[in-house]
Amino acid sequence: PTVFLPQPFSLFSLACMKPHYYLISKHADSSVQVSDIHISRFHDPKRIPDFERFCRDTIDVIKPDLVLATGDLTDAKTESKLGSLQHEVEWQAYHNVLKRSRVLERTKWIDIRGNHDAFNIISLESVNNYYRKYSANQKVGSFHYIHRTPFGNYSFICADATLTPGPKRPYNFFGIINQMDMLATLREESLSSNKSIWFGHYTTSTVISPFPGIRELMSTAMAYLCGHLHTLGGFMPVLHSRHQGGTLELELGDWMENRRYRILAFDHDLFSFTDLTFEDWPAVLITNPKDAQYLHPGVEPLGRIRSSTHIRLLAFSESSITAVHVSVDGASLGKAFSAGGSLYVLQWDPTLYATGLHTIRVKVEDSAGRSKVREQQFTLEEDLTPSFGFMQSFILLTDHYILARIAFVGIVLLNLAGLVLFRFMPVSSTRGLSSQAWMSLHLVSKSNMFFYSLLLFNLCTALGPWFIGEVIDGHSGACFAFGVFVDGHFLEGSLTYVVGVIQVLFFNMPLTYYLCWSLHHRCRGTSFRSHFCRPGSHWRPLAMHIGMLVLMIWQAYSCYFLLETYGALAFFLSPVRTWALLMGLLLVYRAWWGTPPRFSGARHFGLLKGTSQCSI
Ligand SMILES: *[C@@H]1O[C@H](CO)[C@@H](O)[C@H](O)[C@H]1NC(C)=O
Ligand SMILES: *[C@@H]1O[C@H](CO)[C@@H](O)[C@H](O)[C@H]1NC(C)=O
Repeated sequence: PTVFLPQPFSLFSLACMKPHYYLISKHADSSVQVSDIHISRFHDPKRIPDFERFCRDTIDVIKPDLVLATGDLTDAKTESKLGSLQHEVEWQAYHNVLKRSRVLERTKWIDIRGNHDAFNIISLESVNNYYRKYSANQKVGSFHYIHRTPFGNYSFICADATLTPGPKRPYNFFGIINQMDMLATLREESLSSNKSIWFGHYTTSTVISPFPGIRELMSTAMAYLCGHLHTLGGFMPVLHSRHQGGTLELELGDWMENRRYRILAFDHDLFSFTDLTFEDWPAVLITNPKDAQYLHPGVEPLGRIRSSTHIRLLAFSESSITAVHVSVDGASLGKAFSAGGSLYVLQWDPTLYATGLHTIRVKVEDSAGRSKVREQQFTLEEDLTPSFGFMQSFILLTDHYILARIAFVGIVLLNLAGLVLFRFMPVSSTRGLSSQAWMSLHLVSKSNMFFYSLLLFNLCTALGPWFIGEVIDGHSGACFAFGVFVDGHFLEGSLTYVVGVIQVLFFNMPLTYYLCWSLHHRCRGTSFRSHFCRPGSHWRPLAMHIGMLVLMIWQAYSCYFLLETYGALAFFLSPVRTWALLMGLLLVYRAWWGTPPRFSGARHFGLLKGTSQCSI
């Protein structure tokens, strides 16, 4: 067979990183000053200088054609980390790093907005939309960038899902895409490119998009690159999966805590990438044969692996590379040699590996004595691609807001149905039910004060406003389960459903249960004090009281959270938070110390034995 070295050599690499960092100083012109500033006490003071070294040194080693910074360029939080607002100084620090490192002169730098960059911004034209002033890209909305090379054109499509207007946190966690037509046009344009890559800040599972959905739209792409979930607090160090249509979804860990970045490459139109940690040299990326896990048979010319003459890989290090050892299935193939730049090649015979899965192992050594081993599986058969883990796919491919919406509707209906059912059900009809917990539901449902308070509260959780306040500074709005209104705009609900489920599960429902239990005890002549003063074992009543106390404290924390995130007005005008806490305390007080409930039929309870205090 004719041996040809990879010429014309179609390869370019790009680094994609996600610089989450906090502001340290107004005088961030030197890295030394940074660690001296007080506010660095609660935020990572090394974030900015590390980022600067990344822009200067790492980019210099990798020499990418393109850099994507996929959102959350600034942190935009308050000191307590609860509230959110745009700090111009954070943006200036970002801008200064780009300027000082001269990275824009050395590569194409595409930075887009993330949810943090959209906190508390009423419109794209607002003065506090500092992205317009300090970013390299300054393009808001979705766009299409074509990287042209002598060997082919490569499309990069940004799917912008950031909210406009952008509420303060936390109701900014899910993105919304409503420019579907525009994205469809961009997709059409990209079809004439050799390959296309989509990117955005949010994972597709945290984006609301109209039918047929964002995943369908990007089905012609090789991969979708995003961030947003960090590593879920270390719980999911790798978040990669594949859409039904074959497109890879590759979430990248954060720069903020984990200093992650990623190198991607197209080699003869075969796509490969590796996720790396800042300054962990040497870095290795095997581009041929590519990793079996990430094959996209519908889009990639996989036959080129079978007909290739050389193993090809990229090796990078701050120091010079001294040796690149290659072995397949445990047998050494020898040392790869440099073919210019960071490319290393080694002749191979792919026919030896025609069937099954094989393992390629590359060990790179540099002159500083460091070494790195990279091992990956490859296959020359198209249908042998290993699948992704269940958790990764669940996290990346589920439309979580739909799950949350279903859960919320279900749980609210359950709660309401219980109340209403027992209100109208004659007591005698449940006498067959021996459980006293069921019987005590009658006590709450048939007492007007308890019934109407709880009914109103649950209806308000489901349909009414949760709070009214400054959703964006200077612009009032209202938050409902089904969405957020601000300044005449409506943002569809998503995280609200998750919060709603937590609210019902950890307050509305336990409160109802506790009131039932309390009234039940009250009717049997037990007083609140007797649970604590009587001798003997009373761990169960104690556990009930303490449990309710904990949930009350939790609700009080939610009120505090509301105060910190959306301000005093929201705190005071909040039926589902502050008012609910007061109502809960009042009802508990009435249950134990108020007039005992009156309704007919209570005689049937069988639990009104002895010294019944309840009127019959
Ligand atoms: C890119 O597409 C052009 C036109 O279809 C083709 O000639 C070229 O070989 C492709 N480049 C690569 C690297 O496959
Ligand atoms: C890349 O795009 C340019 C301009 O649209 C076109 O002239 C060129 O032929 C394209 N290159 C390839 C390899 O398709």
